[in-house]
Amino acid sequence: MIDYNRLSQEYARHRRVHPGVLRNLLERGEVGETSDVLEVGCGTANYLAAIVSATGCRAWGIDPSEEMLARAGEKAVPATFRRGWAEGLDFPDAAFDLVYSVDVIHHVQGRAQYFAEAFRVLRPGGRVCTVTDSEEVIRARVPLSRYFPETVEAELRRYPKSAEVLKWMRDVGFRDAGEGLEEFPYGLESSQAYREKAFSSLHLISEEAWRRGVDLLERDLRSGPVACVSRYSVFWGRK
Ligand SMILES: C[S@@+](CC[C@H](N)C(=O)[O-])C[C@H]1O[C@@H](n2cnc3c(N)ncnc32)[C@H](O)[C@@H]1O
Repeated sequence: MIDYNRLSQEYARHRRVHPGVLRNLLERGEVGETSDVLEVGCGTANYLAAIVSATGCRAWGIDPSEEMLARAGEKAVPATFRRGWAEGLDFPDAAFDLVYSVDVIHHVQGRAQYFAEAFRVLRPGGRVCTVTDSEEVIRARVPLSRYFPETVEAELRRYPKSAEVLKWMRDVGFRDAGEGLEEFPYGLESSQAYREKAFSSLHLISEEAWRRGVDLLERDLRSGPVACVSRYSVFWGRK
């Protein structure tokens, strides 16, 4: 079980907005000044803060972790943060134009229930977006799959399959359910986030495997930035 209260400091320090994911949320979510937007599992609210800054929309973020919410509240943007879980959204029917989550669905116990809740709190025509890791993404991403190959099987066990996500969406009535891919190549210059285990998958492998990966990564970094690519699967549906 990942303790997100304990991880919140590393998240605040290392976790960054993926530019392609942000663009995707803004454009396909058709977010504007008059939109009502809910982020489920907002963590430190990197995405929600970026969306509010870009559009001036009205924004709500929920997360079970008090520590994550405390960090989210430090962001200098107007948004309402409260403790909550995906499986039971404490909001009235038809309250939002966009409900989204980034890197959260694998933590949600009642996934079908979450999509039913997202459907309920969306207005007709509103959109649900789920940003997550598909099997293809987990196998191909660098540096995790290259330096910490033990994370691959551990991740495959905890992430839902693409077909399951699409089925949960369709089963509760979302139309036009589909999946896309966002990629972001970059040069990694520091091992710090990996050394500090800022990614939850590094908590799923042995100390020995983690240490071996960090050593290899640091050896390669001595010759210059390591070519990496961050990937996300992005699922969309419309009420
Ligand atoms: C990997 S973090 C992602 C945080 C943020 N979305 C981001 O991209 O930076 C996962 C988050 O999901 C939250 N979480 C775990 N279980 C949840 C649930 N059942 N409902 C909503 N959020 C949950 C955790 O507290 C944590 O903040």
